[in-house]
Amino acid sequence: MFNRNFNTNLLAATPSPYCTDISNYLLHIQLLNQGFSCETKNALQQLKDDRIKYYQFKDIPVSEEIPPTATNYISEIPKKTFQSEGVIGAVSLELGQLFNYRETSEFIFYDIYPTKGYEHSRSFVNSKKMLAFHSDGSAHPELCPDYVLLYCVRSDKKAVNLFVDLDALLEHLPDRIVDVLMQPLFKHMVSESPEYFEVKPILFKEGHHITIKYDEENTFGVNTEAISSQKCLNEMLQKIAVVITNSSRSLLILNNKRSLHARTSFNPKYDGNDRWIKCAFVTTNDIETGSIVSLSL
Ligand SMILES: [Fe+2]
Repeated sequence: MFNRNFNTNLLAATPSPYCTDISNYLLHIQLLNQGFSCETKNALQQLKDDRIKYYQFKDIPVSEEIPPTATNYISEIPKKTFQSEGVIGAVSLELGQLFNYRETSEFIFYDIYPTKGYEHSRSFVNSKKMLAFHSDGSAHPELCPDYVLLYCVRSDKKAVNLFVDLDALLEHLPDRIVDVLMQPLFKHMVSESPEYFEVKPILFKEGHHITIKYDEENTFGVNTEAISSQKCLNEMLQKIAVVITNSSRSLLILNNKRSLHARTSFNPKYDGNDRWIKCAFVTTNDIETGSIVSLSL
């Protein structure tokens, strides 16, 4: 899809988004976006219309040299060219405004790769442990991404995404469980240090739709009814999840308010060839593209 009408020379000239003033980068992704084919725009429109909850582009014509996957967590893996970032940015313009959380990165992108010492942690840098079902930014008091963009720089056959469409989940859950999940009976961990929770529901009514904010590992029922409903939710997620495989130069776009995702466990090698995903958040809220949002606790 990207191949038709897509100017790879323009893509190769994408300026760095890893700086305080990203105006040149933002101008450049607008030019890249203008080269998208109708098929590409139609696929993204289907996401916006809620007809599909995810879409995956494959074999994107990115030809840049990729440095080894890092093994310790750093805010920016040194790269000489920014083709992957150009693709993600150009796609984001069809969906809304790029933003990030200050707690995650000082830049609009962040990288997901297995990090030494964190193999069994609850964090997205874990590896030997499954990354539990969640929606990104689910606990944030102000801003939750509408879309999450996951560009695969390097893949690992064992590490697949598991995906649950919220509409399918609601069809499978008993009404009494849905009723409990819609009540403010759940503590969502906003910050681990200092420890801070927000008490709110897991399911929300937004316009004509029901949306979900959930992180299996960081959400806790406040009474026995809430705890047993959450257990039922977790069991159903395991039952109905579908597998999405990422491959090098694929871009997975998730509707983050109308689905949940997880990642299976895998064994990191720390040889420079480990799985590496470049991630970006998009909101449809009226904020400036490129905003880095801070938590005010
Ligand atoms: Fe995620």
